[in-house]
Amino acid sequence: MISRREFVLGASAAIGAVGTVRPLLSWGADESPAIPGKHGMIARSLRFLDLEMPAEYANSFITPVEHFYVRNHMHEPNTVDPREWRLSIGGDVEKPLTVTLAELTRMEQHTVIDTLECAGNGRAFAVPRVPGIQWEKGAVGTARFSGPRLRELLERARVRPTSRHVMFRGMDEVPRKVPPFIRSIPIEKARDEDTLVALHMNGAALTTHHGFPARALVPGWIGAASCKWLTEIKVLDKEFEGNFMSPGYRMPNQPTKPGEAVKVEDTHPLTALNVKSLIASPRDGASVKSRAMHAQGVAWAGEADIAKVEVSTDSGATWHPAQLSKEQSHYAWRLWSYSWNATKPGTYLIMSRATDTQGRSQPDSVQWNPSGYLINVVDRVQIHVQA
Ligand code: MTE
Repeated sequence: MISRREFVLGASAAIGAVGTVRPLLSWGADESPAIPGKHGMIARSLRFLDLEMPAEYANSFITPVEHFYVRNHMHEPNTVDPREWRLSIGGDVEKPLTVTLAELTRMEQHTVIDTLECAGNGRAFAVPRVPGIQWEKGAVGTARFSGPRLRELLERARVRPTSRHVMFRGMDEVPRKVPPFIRSIPIEKARDEDTLVALHMNGAALTTHHGFPARALVPGWIGAASCKWLTEIKVLDKEFEGNFMSPGYRMPNQPTKPGEAVKVEDTHPLTALNVKSLIASPRDGASVKSRAMHAQGVAWAGEADIAKVEVSTDSGATWHPAQLSKEQSHYAWRLWSYSWNATKPGTYLIMSRATDTQGRSQPDSVQWNPSGYLINVVDRVQIHVQA
């Protein structure tokens, strides 16, 4: 449980990809608004709902929906009547089709446990500050998603050989001047056996916050690839051109320094997630009595698997292997834990560092980039061991 005092309201709600700063939301930090279906979350924006999970909830393999982060670029659709709702599949196909929710439910259902993370998770640690929602650690969660495979729908529509990308359109309520949420993924990823039109999350129908009645689930990739409130799937002969593909969600090809101009042609679209770990406990700032210490958390690596997690309890001077829990699934985070004895009272900086099966490891410092994407610096919490 987080207390009312700890409830944080982001100072400003910005549309990351558009860079438009929205007016301040006003209420005191002592009033936590009740958000249906959510509990104990950090509200980063309420104009368009953006909720972060406090790091201490990263303590289970499956994140309960009430603690799962929410990232909306615009308003959630007001009401969706599941009997009226239709999903169209068209574009570069021989046989365009429209399906109902009942038809999707009757197709073979496939389940994927996926760690979904917003590309901007950790943006708050970029120095100097970059525009966008100031996510700290918790724009990430792991859920069991199920629904028909996207490739089955594409097969039914008979995709033409010229196709290169598959575009998703959401039913968001688009405020004036804001471009609609439309993105595309390469045809190979769309045809992957684990890419879904998800209808369920953790065994129940998707909630409105997470895309009811259907969302794309593009496992291992940045959250933005997994379009919510799907209404249209369109096969294209090239990448979709739109604000959320460019300039949004792109990374410079070379490391850049603050203030340096980057041309769009020197950037590439973000796809798979980075290797990263998170300390769920002890909590940052905790003051503990016992010298018998225990740290635990999660680690994930997008399309790769976690090879090891190391923990340092002496500000990074020495590193020790953490124990990885047995529960695992490709695309899902691994729980880890580490126990040790604090030799004397005082302040300790505890750090976690994950390495994946591609040999990638978390950097010691923030890799600054103009939009604060894919920040995966080693995690750290400071605690005080009482005398
Ligand atoms: N889909 C639509 N239609 N509109 C959105 O604003 N946000 C994207 C993605 N899908 C978004 C969307 C982003 S940026 C992320 S990180 C994930 O949804 C978040 O999914 P969640 O809110 O279910 O956690």
